Amino acid sequence: MNNVVIVNADIRKGTINKNIYGHFSEHLGRCIYEGIWVGEDSPIPNTKGIRNDVLQALKQIKVPVLRWPGGCFADEYHWKDGVGPRESRKRMVNTHWGGVVENNHFGTHEFLLLCELLECEPYICGNVGSGTVQEMSEWVEYMTFDGESPMANWRRENGREEPWKLKYFGVGNENWGCGGNMRPEYYADLYRRYQTYVRNYGDNKIYKIAGGANVDDYNWTEVLMKNAGWLMDGLSLHYYTIPGDFWLGKGSALDFPEDEWFMTMKKALHMDELIRKHSTIMDKYDPDKRVGMIIDEWGTWFDVEPGTNPGFLYQQNAIRDALVAGLHFNIFHNHCDRVQMTNIAQTVNVLQAMILTEGEKMILTPTYHVFDMYKVHQDAELLAVDSTFGEYEYNGEKLPQVTVSASRDAAGKVHISLCNIDHLQDAELDLELRGLGAAGAKVSGTILTADKMNAHNTFEQPEAVKPVEFTGAAVQGNKLAIKLPAMSVVTIAVE
Ligand code: AHR
Repeated sequence: MNNVVIVNADIRKGTINKNIYGHFSEHLGRCIYEGIWVGEDSPIPNTKGIRNDVLQALKQIKVPVLRWPGGCFADEYHWKDGVGPRESRKRMVNTHWGGVVENNHFGTHEFLLLCELLECEPYICGNVGSGTVQEMSEWVEYMTFDGESPMANWRRENGREEPWKLKYFGVGNENWGCGGNMRPEYYADLYRRYQTYVRNYGDNKIYKIAGGANVDDYNWTEVLMKNAGWLMDGLSLHYYTIPGDFWLGKGSALDFPEDEWFMTMKKALHMDELIRKHSTIMDKYDPDKRVGMIIDEWGTWFDVEPGTNPGFLYQQNAIRDALVAGLHFNIFHNHCDRVQMTNIAQTVNVLQAMILTEGEKMILTPTYHVFDMYKVHQDAELLAVDSTFGEYEYNGEKLPQVTVSASRDAAGKVHISLCNIDHLQDAELDLELRGLGAAGAKVSGTILTADKMNAHNTFEQPEAVKPVEFTGAAVQGNKLAIKLPAMSVVTIAVE
């Protein structure tokens, strides 16, 4: 056996911010409309227009923070079109996503209601690309000002007396691309200007997030940190796991060969290098790590499901996606000194979704189940882990077969999460628990696995991939002998 893990239960490495388990929901395809918002008159059971089944499912995974309204949509969104009586709201074209009519029925009030129902923090992304400084400033005034002012009065006229609490605000999205095609120097100046007017009213303190780099554009991070680092609380980073080529063919979500499985794992693991390198640049300007790395878009991006609108980014979700989620969380945990928030793209019916809907029907994806299994790490203390793993080899290329992270929660319970990315081979592990001891410990666990690389849930078979009790961990003296099946995600609890 060459898989050895030592979990140091008495060496804490920092807190895993629960916001690492954040979500992103854009006005894109069927994410907001149909997926979340069905309207008050819908036959689908809803709470003030928000579908109840989706609400319940999202509450179960404890969504801590939700980013909205985009994405690329954010830099074309004019918030004033989305408040007031719904029947008179302006209709617009969603030029980025399928050219469909956006009726603005889901706007500021509806989004903030959704967050209240989910008991999560709202994270609003403002419009720098095609919006004015005044528009952005007035949005914050509308939402958070308690006194007498044109925007606060308008909010009251629209039915909301009290201001909302709003913590997270993004100053633009992908400003290097759909958010304005800017150079970093230009955006850094715009960031400085726009953020000046994102005001803190009363005791509402806004955490300002600057639009960050695309993948490995380290120069973007350098320029932003150098020219505006002291004016931001967070700097974003976007990276998607795409087994193929973004323009020439990303690869199918379900119909893929072994080499695309391998490529997907390899590309997912690349997140670790990106975080390390961007962090090193941030450290130069912010050695105390005051500025959080906010990975506000991540996840798999495949070709759309055959027969669906190419602008809607609807894809199925298989056990492969579950592994991608588990790998990301292990990486994010292990970088919790810098990574303060991440937001998977996207919550419902778009890209690596938690939930798929079809009319009144809803299914949970394998990715959803990983969020559910891993939620025990939210706000827990990261533990130091030393490990040596064997390799998963394909076509002469090698990846570590297993990844791991561990944490200790407020009640003292230790949780260890493991991913075996090899789709054929089990992994036998020798796990030592230092500072706790396995002898006499109560060990339990949950596993998500499948027997096919593309195993997934459908509306006909909604529970084809679902977590079950994990019985592959045996206490042997002071250690645990663990057998991880091929392509599995496992979370073990030791108390
Ligand atoms: O998540 C889909 C799109 O990907 C977002 O709108 C954009 O920010 C990114 O390019």
